[in-house]
Amino acid sequence: MEVIIVPDAATIGELAADSAVALLARKPTAVFGLATGSSPLVVYAELIRRYDAGEVSFARSRGFLLDEYVGLPAEHPQRYRSVIRRELEERVDFPPDAIAGPDGLAVDLPAVCADYERAITDAGGVDLQLLGVGSDGHVAFNEPGSSLSSRTRIKTLTARTRADNERFFEPTDEVPHHVLTQGLGTILDARHLVLIARGSGKASAVHQLVEGPVSAFCPASVLQLHQHATVLLDDDAASQLRLADYYRETYANKPQWQGL
Ligand code: GLP
Repeated sequence: MEVIIVPDAATIGELAADSAVALLARKPTAVFGLATGSSPLVVYAELIRRYDAGEVSFARSRGFLLDEYVGLPAEHPQRYRSVIRRELEERVDFPPDAIAGPDGLAVDLPAVCADYERAITDAGGVDLQLLGVGSDGHVAFNEPGSSLSSRTRIKTLTARTRADNERFFEPTDEVPHHVLTQGLGTILDARHLVLIARGSGKASAVHQLVEGPVSAFCPASVLQLHQHATVLLDDDAASQLRLADYYRETYANKPQWQGL
């Protein structure tokens, strides 16, 4: 796991975008794993900026969402499929139908989950998976207690996650209890994981995921099992890391040719 600590959100966006652009340069048909929440927005903003500048094209690439709420109406602005459409898809040149998400409105949810796993496999797997982390250490919507080898399935949100996500909803709207989420095993199959965390509210989860034991109690700690996981942090999110000085020194001396 590579831990990179930088002073501001813009630098996080640039580093993750560099990685996406380099991937597209060597593999124009790259498959992206797309996260929602506020953390990846700096990356999407930077990718849109580079697309507008003519520096990158998504015309042959594809994307798969990490997760989705169950039961939110199709037109609901917080449906993750709508969020990704708004924040990235319709602002760059993905081909029509190039981005898929698990359908939280389907009648047969287990069938949707199985089909989603198959679709990811049929697309050749995810090349670059963007991730955030919840304050309780959840990744995608894999809450504490999630099997470390889980696949896409229905999960029940904790009260804490529902409270954390209330900020995205109108006061009159209830945050759904149920979600569909790629499993931790599904996420581990991606070739490169890039997890982004910002702010002191994430400091404890970041400490647990980077330096704690690998444990279903902190689902994001499963990244420790991956051969190519990058954790991009601002100073506040890194404030509880015991080896922060080492991570900073390592990054400051990183060989130029290496990339993320
Ligand atoms: C939601 C999403 C996660 C995201 C988390 C943190 O629960 N399902 O994918 O990582 O929120 O969100 P934020 O980045 O806004 O802190």
